[in-house]
Amino acid sequence: MKKEDPFVYAHEREQKIVWMSQNTNQIETSPEIIKAMKEALEEGKYNLYPHRDGILGLKQALLDDLGLKDGFDALITNGAIEGTYTLTRAMLEEGDNVIASDPSFMPIHHQIELSGAEPREIDVYKDPYKLRVEEIEEAVDKNTKMILLIDPLNPLGSSYSKKEVKQISQIAEDNDLLLIHDITYRDFAYEHTLASEFVPERTIFVYSFSKNVGFAGMRLGALVMPKEYSDILHRYRTNVLSANVIAQVGAKKALETKDGWLPDMLKRSRKNQAIIKEAVDKIPDISLPVYPSNTNMFVIDVEKTGLDPQEIQEKLLYEHDVFVRGGNYLSKTAGDKFIRISFTVSEEGTRKFAERLPMVLDDLR
Ligand SMILES: Cc1ncc(COP(=O)(O)O)c(C=O)c1O
Repeated sequence: MKKEDPFVYAHEREQKIVWMSQNTNQIETSPEIIKAMKEALEEGKYNLYPHRDGILGLKQALLDDLGLKDGFDALITNGAIEGTYTLTRAMLEEGDNVIASDPSFMPIHHQIELSGAEPREIDVYKDPYKLRVEEIEEAVDKNTKMILLIDPLNPLGSSYSKKEVKQISQIAEDNDLLLIHDITYRDFAYEHTLASEFVPERTIFVYSFSKNVGFAGMRLGALVMPKEYSDILHRYRTNVLSANVIAQVGAKKALETKDGWLPDMLKRSRKNQAIIKEAVDKIPDISLPVYPSNTNMFVIDVEKTGLDPQEIQEKLLYEHDVFVRGGNYLSKTAGDKFIRISFTVSEEGTRKFAERLPMVLDDLR
C-alpha cells in the first residue's frame, strides 16, 4: 500500500491533513503572542543578531517560569534538540552510559550514541509505563554518567510523582550522576515536580517552546543548568550567534502571559484526549496504556488486534488524510505494539480521527 514518504505526502497536503503524527501543537496561538511577533517583524528586528545569550529578558522569564532563583543559568537553543546535542557532546565520552527508557524520544538516544556513550534503555512498555526506581538502581554502574528523565514521557504520557522524582534524585546523588530532566511537556502535566527541588546542583533541564506554545516550526528551546555547568555548556554551543529572534520575542511574551492562554489550551487538549478515549473504549482489542496523559499525546495499544501499526499509519494517512505515527519511531522493542497520537489539533480533526480509526481497523482485520 505504501505510496511514498509519508512526510512528503503529508507536507504536500498540509492544510488537509489532521496532523497527529508529531507532537506539535496546532491549537490557536494567543493573539497577544502573535501581535508581539508581528510587531517585531515590522520593526525589522530580524536584521540584527540577537544578543548571544538570547533577547534581553528571555532568560530571566524562563528562570522565573521554573521558579528558579539564584544558582541557575540558561542557554537558549534552536529547539530543545539542539540543547540535548550540546549537552551530550559536552558531558559524555566513549564508554559512558546514560540511563534511559524505551519507549522514549529516540533522537536524544542517537545523540548519546554520537558522543560514544551508550543509552541504557530500560523497558517501560509495561505497568506503570515509566522508569521504576528499583530498575534504575539495578541499571546504574560505574560508567553511568547521567539519568535521562523525560517527564512527562514521550510517547506514553506518564509522569513522575514528587516521591519518585525525589527517589530518582537520590540515586543521582548516591552515584554522583547528572539528572537530565527533560521537561518539554511539563505544562501539560496535571502535577509536576522539578528535580531541582532535591538535587539542584545535579539537575540540567531540557526545555522546549515547541509544545506548550506551539512553536515547533520556530525552533526554540533551552538548557537550564546550575551555574557551574554554564561555562562548559556554552563552550559546546553550536549557535554562538543565538537563535531565531522572532521566535524569542514570541517566547518571551508567551512566558509573561502564560496564565492568560495556558488554561484554555489545556482545556482543549484534554477535551480532545477524552474524545479519543471514548472512541477507543468502543473498539475491541485496543486500549490506552496511560490515561489521562500528562502530555499532548498518548499511545494506543493495538497488539491484540494482530495488526501492524505501520499499516494502520499508512491506511489512515493515504486513505483518510489523518497522520498518526507507528510505534517503531519511538521504541526499539515495543514499536510493533502501538500507534502514537498527538491531540493538540482541532476538535474537528480529533473527531475525524475518532470516526475513521474503527473504520480503518475493521478494513485491515
Ligand atoms: C522529550 C522531547 N525532548 C525534546 C524534544 C525536541 O523538542 P524541540 O522541538 O524543542 O527541539 C522533543 C520533541 O518531540 C521531545 O519529545
